[in-house]
Amino acid sequence: MSAPLVEIDDVRKSFGGNVVLDELVLEIGAGFTGLIGPNGAGKTTCLNLISGYVRPTAGDVRVRGASVVGARPQDIAARGVARTFQTPRVVSALSALENVMLGGHRHHRRGHLAELFGLGSARRQEAAVRARAHELLDRFGLADQAQEPAAAFPIGSQKIIEVARGLVNEPHLLLLDEPAAGLGAEDVEALVGGLDGYLAGGTTAVVIIEHDLKLISRLCPRVAVLHFGRIIADGPPAEVLDDAVVVEAYLGAGFATDR
Ligand SMILES: Nc1ncnc2c1ncn2[C@@H]1O[C@H](COP(=O)(O)OP(=O)(O)O)[C@@H](O)[C@H]1O
Ligand SMILES: [Mg+2]
Repeated sequence: MSAPLVEIDDVRKSFGGNVVLDELVLEIGAGFTGLIGPNGAGKTTCLNLISGYVRPTAGDVRVRGASVVGARPQDIAARGVARTFQTPRVVSALSALENVMLGGHRHHRRGHLAELFGLGSARRQEAAVRARAHELLDRFGLADQAQEPAAAFPIGSQKIIEVARGLVNEPHLLLLDEPAAGLGAEDVEALVGGLDGYLAGGTTAVVIIEHDLKLISRLCPRVAVLHFGRIIADGPPAEVLDDAVVVEAYLGAGFATDR
């Protein structure tokens, strides 16, 4: 097995006296990994640690073997880490296509050494980003509305646009914070189909925080359960979601158990 894309190594994170993560150990490899757990469990904090928005109180976080502790979010992004937020952050006045293209204007891009060494013209790069952005919108069923302003889209589509923006730079690691929350059934289909179709069999690692356990079961061969800042279960969804301790944790938080 190749080295994990992400290693969360004995991390503790407290805000003031509030210990949110404690002795957290988690490795993430290629493919889809689900991260679930009740509200307040520390899921978003995990993504914030990996993407540089918060710094661990103790322990180390490595991305592709290098520590990201103390690195700025934009520098971590430049190493090939893309993320979305629980509340979508699209630029209302720009079109869907332009919003997706915004994700292409970072330094990082997989492969294409010629571009790194300045051999490709800015124009050619722009055209390549535009083509990828189009392909992604098409994957997610939004190609017909590519030119419409982001503000005109319902919130579900805005979240999908944000996911496409995360993918346009061909990241090594994509972190999705509740991408399906607030989405209707049709949008969930578009999201799952798009992600699966675009990334299936590839080397990209995707971490999905999600309360929709059906979505997790469909997309993720592996799911980790965070509860009070610790991983209490980690494995295939069929096993993890039948675990009595997990069910208890969910029931305690008022989760629906049908899936
Ligand atoms: N920047 C912050 N400052 C203070 N407390 C925070 C901050 N971020 C998260 N927390 C606290 O950490 C706990 C876990 O939050 P979070 O990671 O958002 O949980 P989840 O995403 O699993 O719902 C909560 O008690 C929350 O209030
Ligand atoms: Mg959260």
